[in-house]
Amino acid sequence: KMDQFINRLMQQMTVEEKLGQLNLPGAGDITTGQASSSDIAGKIAEGKVGGLFNIKTVAKIRDVQKIAVEKSRLKIPLIFGMDVIHGYQTVFPIPLGLSCSWDMPLIERSARIAAIEASADGINWTFSPMVDISRDARWGRVSEGSGEDPYLGAEIAKAMIKGYQGDDLSKNNTIIACVKHFALYGAAEAGRDYNTTDMSRVRMYNEFFLPYQASIEAGVGTVMTSFNEVDGIPASANKWLMTEVLRNQWGFNGMVVTDYTAINEMVDHGLGDLRAVSALALKAGVDMDMVGEGFLTTLKQSLDEGKVSQQEIDMACRRVLEAKYKLGLFTDPYRYCDIKRSKKEIYTPAFRKEARSTAAQSFVLMKNERNTLPLKKTGTIALIGPLADATENMTGTWSVAADFSKSVSVLNGLKASVGKQSRILYAKGSNLTEDSILEERATMFGKTLRRDSRSAEVIRNEALQIAGQADVIVAALGESAEMSGESSSRTDIGIPQVQKDLLAELLKTGKPVVLILFTGRPLALQWESENVPAILNVWFGGSEAGDAIADVLFGAVNPSGKLTMTFPQNVGQVPIFYNHKNTGRPLEDGKWFQKFRSNYLDVSNDPLYPFGYGLSYTQFSYGNIRLSDSLLRSGKSITASVSLTNSGSLEGKEVVQLYIRDMVGSITRPVKELKGFQKVSLKPGESREVTFLIDEEMLKFYNSELKFAAEPGDFKLFIGTNSRDAKEVNFKLQ
Ligand code: IFM
Repeated sequence: KMDQFINRLMQQMTVEEKLGQLNLPGAGDITTGQASSSDIAGKIAEGKVGGLFNIKTVAKIRDVQKIAVEKSRLKIPLIFGMDVIHGYQTVFPIPLGLSCSWDMPLIERSARIAAIEASADGINWTFSPMVDISRDARWGRVSEGSGEDPYLGAEIAKAMIKGYQGDDLSKNNTIIACVKHFALYGAAEAGRDYNTTDMSRVRMYNEFFLPYQASIEAGVGTVMTSFNEVDGIPASANKWLMTEVLRNQWGFNGMVVTDYTAINEMVDHGLGDLRAVSALALKAGVDMDMVGEGFLTTLKQSLDEGKVSQQEIDMACRRVLEAKYKLGLFTDPYRYCDIKRSKKEIYTPAFRKEARSTAAQSFVLMKNERNTLPLKKTGTIALIGPLADATENMTGTWSVAADFSKSVSVLNGLKASVGKQSRILYAKGSNLTEDSILEERATMFGKTLRRDSRSAEVIRNEALQIAGQADVIVAALGESAEMSGESSSRTDIGIPQVQKDLLAELLKTGKPVVLILFTGRPLALQWESENVPAILNVWFGGSEAGDAIADVLFGAVNPSGKLTMTFPQNVGQVPIFYNHKNTGRPLEDGKWFQKFRSNYLDVSNDPLYPFGYGLSYTQFSYGNIRLSDSLLRSGKSITASVSLTNSGSLEGKEVVQLYIRDMVGSITRPVKELKGFQKVSLKPGESREVTFLIDEEMLKFYNSELKFAAEPGDFKLFIGTNSRDAKEVNFKLQ
């Protein structure tokens, strides 16, 4: 039916109208690049626009849709996209935080709520999930993904796509997802955004491709190209990537859109003028051109000159029309423009409640000496820090539909939680940073941190004065929301110095200090980890962050988040990730320096906090691993079980992690790879048997011929609380 409909429609279309469908201008409500599109309304009426992105509100969307379906010759409706990355108006934790919940139903629900809200406001296409594996904390966009592990990244991608797209895209409360950025965007050299990437194909397939591939298998409707080059060819012109891998190997038959002006940027990459690079992109398998209008303005000429074929243009046009068809836009172009829904279904109490509990699940308790946490609701609490009363900064990067003024700050969350039970004193303590250039760059997009113009000393003294009156000090410090995200790479990944100075002074009071850490990336926290008794990493928890922080601080929620990116001891260790190779000169067990071994002179190879790490207010103990058989026969499976006990005094959740190491291979294999996990909730004293099925499929990898197969031999299996602290046993694959 869809094919017939589109065939008929395309028979009526001129080349210009077909090229119009490939054009995706930005509406200008939110911009992230240099170019902006002009005379959009005129172009829509002429049939020169296929969709629009980053336009907000039903009223505006209805108006432009009206032009398309009433004024353009063929009345083809527009598709409306937006970066709905971690919620719409009800904002969930930044994706890196969300991933630390290791809770797939929770993550799926957050995407479902985002889809309901976005579609109630006219949007039917989200540029999410971002699944780029990231191992370099300098890169600002680590905040937008699920961290360093391909297996976990793939599970999360599937959950999000299911949440967005549901089981029927034509429903008015589901939206089409866009997996991005294909491919390898997270591997930018030196962590500098948009920088070159370069890696072997074996590494691409084994360590980076899985989340993209899993997204395709999960039925994601669209794919976004990345800005970087892959094997020397920018992704948007890379036919091997866009056609051979994506379509031929993985069977993707949806629509490919570029990132913002990615085609035009290939001129700077050095691939030719706009006409040449636009032709390259089309031929590579790109369907839609975001913002740059290279397709719109040059492909007709390339067609006339025989540089691209009619068939290539038709194919791209067909895929755009198919996406619109699947969304039900040809049946009702205003399907997502229901003003009643937009009033009723956005930022509802139920959604906010879900966002609050989700945020609490994303927090990672990094340190809790002498059970400093949870706090009691008695006495006086001094809440200090530039992020304590920073409503606009709670939602983090890419929260374009949020109303920042409505977010719950830490101060408001704490006050609401304690009521009259304890006294909360607040002081800012310091500005975000004393570096005015960094400050300007770190407070964009309306996420200001109101600067206090008094001297650093005066601001600090005021805080020390209230700290002196308190029984406990809660310091809300770290990065501002815009210190991570797109175009926000850093070479110094510490807490800004003025805040560290404040923290040092607070510690000198001798009172218990809890660090509430705001960050969009792993930070180098060596000094903090040695000196601060309790550290709760809250990332950017979303619109309800303040309430969620109070829930965890006072113990209404027991923290259970586990890191999905390794925290380094210092920036010099970056990129640092748990699933690295052994090298030919590994350190001996227990040593941290040996001459002529792979190590540093000045710091051990250990991370500060490993992948999978996170504490709880209770304790979990692991029994030894029991295998049903230490020989895994080809085509069969075995089980690995541990007994997990909550040996503390509070109910809590533990993420039990399964890792495997392939001891001998035809190519070198990582020292450990995550192969499974289970999130288990246990009451105090309760024990549970946690069992994983081990089969040949999970031992497969891409060999040097890029053949995906398992190789018989010895394996090590680990089960534990994080990637470092785990029990181990050996087994063989026959
Ligand atoms: O979706 C984003 C992408 O992740 C980065 N560049 C801009 C796009 C559209 O806003």
